[in-house]
Amino acid sequence: MEKNHFFTQIFLTLMAVSPMIACNENAAENNDANPDSASVAKASVTQAEYGKIGDAIVTQYTITNEKGMIVKLINYGATVTDIITLDKNQSRGNVVLGFDSLAGYLQPGNPYFGSIVGRYGNRIANGRFTLDGQTYTLARNNNGQSLHGGIKGFDKVLWNGEPVGDNAVKFTYLSKDGEEGYPGNLNVSVTYTLTNDNELKIEYSATTDKATPVNLTNHAYFNLSAGADSTILGHELMLKADSFTEVNNVLIPTGKNPPVAGTPMDFTTAKPIGRDIAQVPGGYDHNWVLRRDGNGLELIATLYHPGSGRYMEVFTTEPGVQFYSGNFLDGRLKHTRDGQKYVKHAGLCLETQHFPDSPNHPHFPNTILRPGETYTQTTVYKFSTK
Ligand code: GLA
Repeated sequence: MEKNHFFTQIFLTLMAVSPMIACNENAAENNDANPDSASVAKASVTQAEYGKIGDAIVTQYTITNEKGMIVKLINYGATVTDIITLDKNQSRGNVVLGFDSLAGYLQPGNPYFGSIVGRYGNRIANGRFTLDGQTYTLARNNNGQSLHGGIKGFDKVLWNGEPVGDNAVKFTYLSKDGEEGYPGNLNVSVTYTLTNDNELKIEYSATTDKATPVNLTNHAYFNLSAGADSTILGHELMLKADSFTEVNNVLIPTGKNPPVAGTPMDFTTAKPIGRDIAQVPGGYDHNWVLRRDGNGLELIATLYHPGSGRYMEVFTTEPGVQFYSGNFLDGRLKHTRDGQKYVKHAGLCLETQHFPDSPNHPHFPNTILRPGETYTQTTVYKFSTK
C-alpha cells in the first residue's frame, strides 16, 4: 500500500512538473523575440560607462542570470543600483530604491542607497575608541558620532571593479592608514554573485597591516512592491532574534540587550512592519541580536510583500542585523528613479553586521582585525514569490 502510494506520488509530481519544464523551454527559445520573457539562455555580465567623477570613469555592471533576474552595480561605493525580479504574475520590477543617474548617487544627503558602508558600518560613540592603549579619533558626521565610516566612507569612494566569470563582479579598495582616522592600510574586497537560484550573494574580505576595527555591510533599501506601494509598512518581516541592542537618544548602544518578547521589537513571528511602528519613537533603527546555531551562513530574516507575492530571505554569517525602516527619508531626494518620491518609510534596510559601537563595548562580539588575520562576512538575499 505504502509503496503504491509512493509511486502514485512520483507520477503525479512528474505530471505537475512536465508542463512547467515545457513552458520554461519555450520561454528560453523565444528569448530573442521577446526580451521580457521570464527565462534567458545564459547568465552574463556586461559593463558600460555610467558617468564620470572628474576624469575617472564610473562603470555600471549588469549581471543577468538564467531566470532573467538582473542586478546592476556601480563601482562608486560598490553600490547596488538595481535588483530586478519577477512578481507572482511574472511582471518585472526593481525592488531597491535608487537614482536615475550618477548625479543622484553623488548628491549631498544620498542616504547610502545600495552602497557598501565601512570601514565601520553603523556608529562609533563620539567617534572615539581605544585600541592596545592608543586612543583614535575618527571623522564625526552624525550628531557628534562617527557613522558608516565617517565623512568620506566606503560608500563615497571609487572601487576597482572586475567581472568574475559569467555571474559575479568583484570590487576592491585600499583604505589608507589614517583614512577618516582609522589605523592601518586596509585591503578590502566585496564580490557580488547572482546565482541561478535568484540569490544575490555578497562576500566581503579584508586584511590590514595594523590592528583596526572593521564592520562592513550593504545599505540597500528594499521595497518589494517595486514602486506600487509608497512605503514598506505593509511588508511582513520576520527577524530571528530574541533581543536587541538598546540605544540612547543618539542611537549609541547602552550596552544592554533587552528581550523583544512583548514589545514592538518582537519580529520572531512575521508581522506587518506598520503594526507596532507608532510605538517606536522615530521608527525602527536598531540592531537585533541574532539567534544563531553557529558561525555559518544561516537564515536570519524574511520579508514578504503580499500584493506582489515577492518574498526575500536573508542569510548571513554575522551576529547582528540593523533593521532600519527608512525613517529619515522625507521625499526630498533628487534624480530619483522614475521620479518617485522617496517618502518616510519608502524602503527598509536589513544591514547584516557586528553590533554598533563594538570597539567601546568589550562584551560585544569582536570587531578588531589584526595583521595576519582575514576579515570575512557573507550575506545572501534570496528572491522568490509565494
Ligand atoms: C543607518 C543608520 C540610520 C541612518 C541610515 C542612513 O541605517 O542606522 O540611523 O543613519 O543609516 O540614513
